[in-house]
Amino acid sequence: MSLPPNPVVAPPHVLSLLDRLHDESIKQESVLGSYLSSADGFGDLMRDKFIALDKDKCHFVYQLARAIDARNIVEVGTSFGVSTIYLALALGSNLERSGGKGKVIATEKESTKAAKALQHWREAGDELVTRHIDLREGNLLETLKESVPTLDLLLIDIWAPVALPALKLLEPRMRPGAVVIVDNSISSASRYADLLAHLRSPTNGYINLTLPYSNGLEMSIKF
Ligand SMILES: C[S@@+](CC[C@H](N)C(=O)[O-])C[C@H]1O[C@@H](n2cnc3c(N)ncnc32)[C@H](O)[C@@H]1O
Repeated sequence: MSLPPNPVVAPPHVLSLLDRLHDESIKQESVLGSYLSSADGFGDLMRDKFIALDKDKCHFVYQLARAIDARNIVEVGTSFGVSTIYLALALGSNLERSGGKGKVIATEKESTKAAKALQHWREAGDELVTRHIDLREGNLLETLKESVPTLDLLLIDIWAPVALPALKLLEPRMRPGAVVIVDNSISSASRYADLLAHLRSPTNGYINLTLPYSNGLEMSIKF
């Protein structure tokens, strides 16, 4: 049986880097097991962990960013920068195809994780990836108060208590038709209860779809 197609347009060294980073993340998560859902010392435990967005979800987000010609993207939760690479590649291809400007705003509160993310982006290539990223280090509820352009796409992959405040902070910056992606919307539905209630409330102007990826992936469009 042939492998499913990979939509990501990138040189072989970037595809190998992404494979390696996903493998490392999966290896860490298999050891973490049930600790992932424990509240005790969660932040400390996660300080040296990837917890990257799954590869098939990254492919979807990449394809989506290409489809909507996303120019301005916020990634709520960057960690070691894996999903950011996909977003930057998609943005770079969009700009190359039809010109203009844009950035992926990446957010990470842990300085060691931000440094590692930067290292991964450099390994992918400054021209191809790093130059498309505006890394905001620190608590995103502060760093995203600084100037944010009109947004096409928002990827929420973050500890649950931060998710809804981040969305509310960014809502005034979202263009009509902007897309919000939330990871683990099935497995973490109870932790994300306030966020999902907000997205699904008929008064807030979103239309929502739960995509059947492992643990769920919510796709919401803001009108
Ligand atoms: C699930 S990981 C992100 C994974 C990343 N999207 C990827 O695919 O590689 C969530 C990250 O959000 C960071 N984080 C949590 N709360 C934050 C906050 N208030 N501000 C900025 N970053 C935060 C954590 O340190 C963690 O690295």
